[in-house]
Amino acid sequence: MGTLSSPASKLGWDWERVPGLPRTHYLDNRMYTDEALFNDEKEKIFKAQWKFACHESEVPEPGGYRVINVADTAVAIIRGADNILRAFLNICPHRGAKLLRDVQGTIKGDRTTCFYHHWTFTTAGQCTTIPLPQGYSNEEINADNVHLKAVNLESLHGLVFVNLSSSPSQTLKDFLGSAMEQIEAPLSDLEVFHYHRVVVKANWKLFVETNCEGYHELLHLLNRTTALSQPSYLQRKWLLHPNGHHTFQPANIAYNKLKLGDRGTDTLNGMTPNMHVVTDLFPDVMINVRSTVVRIDSLIPVEPGLTILECRGLGPKSDTETQRRARVKQHNQVWGPMGRNLPEDIWAIETQWANMTAHEYPYSLVAREDNDQATDDSPVRSFYAKWQELTGVSSFDIHAPFKNGVAHEQ
Ligand code: FES
Ligand SMILES: [Fe+2]
Repeated sequence: MGTLSSPASKLGWDWERVPGLPRTHYLDNRMYTDEALFNDEKEKIFKAQWKFACHESEVPEPGGYRVINVADTAVAIIRGADNILRAFLNICPHRGAKLLRDVQGTIKGDRTTCFYHHWTFTTAGQCTTIPLPQGYSNEEINADNVHLKAVNLESLHGLVFVNLSSSPSQTLKDFLGSAMEQIEAPLSDLEVFHYHRVVVKANWKLFVETNCEGYHELLHLLNRTTALSQPSYLQRKWLLHPNGHHTFQPANIAYNKLKLGDRGTDTLNGMTPNMHVVTDLFPDVMINVRSTVVRIDSLIPVEPGLTILECRGLGPKSDTETQRRARVKQHNQVWGPMGRNLPEDIWAIETQWANMTAHEYPYSLVAREDNDQATDDSPVRSFYAKWQELTGVSSFDIHAPFKNGVAHEQ
């Protein structure tokens, strides 16, 4: 029998060389897999910027708390007896045990006690009791002197953000700028009615990318049928805001084309029937409003190839039982764990990740120029402009020198 062979000859596309593009239009795939860069991202992006924490409705009553993870740091959002929201490291100042051990709960009587040696704190972070205090000969160690470490917290339109920097360079309002304008009205008076987490075997940035380019709508049966099938849909524009945030202009979605019913009643404030808007906040938040429901996705990067995606569904606090039932159904049609789009997005990026780790595919293209319309890659490029500014790393070559905020060719 003769041998079968297939020479690895070039078929026209040179995998090793970028085809004459501006350096903003392709990405060095080592940015997804590089361990040191991943650790840098945690320090320079997730800990140094405003990071979405939760929605105010998750901590509705005095004493309520929610523990979140920001770049491996446990942060407790606590509503004080005075109804003020505060954030603290969820770390006991005595010997570092976890103070609040549930993800969410209520502190009764304005006092919480560390389970290890029973130091006790108020919801405002002040220590009230150190058992057997006579054992401390150093007089600085007394309850009056001890408090939990405060973390910067600000909230806007019901969204709670924290910033682990000791001196944030901007207020939350300045950081978000005009990016929230389009969703201020629909975000009013909401509460979280749905929460789930997904373990994604992919780098966190791959999920961000899928949320800020409309070209991938081709992946989704729902989007092909109810959006792209409309002749005007491709004219839908992205608006780029400072700091790497983007908004996707309103469009009407033809849910009936997929027999999903009309979304003509109980629309949220500022929304018209079947209207859809998207707001992406740097670095990791997507707020997706489909006329009657809001979805907020955010990310917890765990390892270069492991990310926890948090998905929240929100509707008006004032809903009757019947209204809420309809809203939950509409939410789940698209976004629930058994919905259509989320598994498709994750499927796509997990296949990307698997191939990135083989290091045989050096560059990804973000080169589409469609006049900022739906399929333009400009939102991805704008995300990486901010990413470069914060990490000091060139997105087209992670080993290229980066000086004075500008990347240089090797
Ligand atoms: S570690 Fe909390 S009281 Fe000792
Ligand atoms: Fe998608």
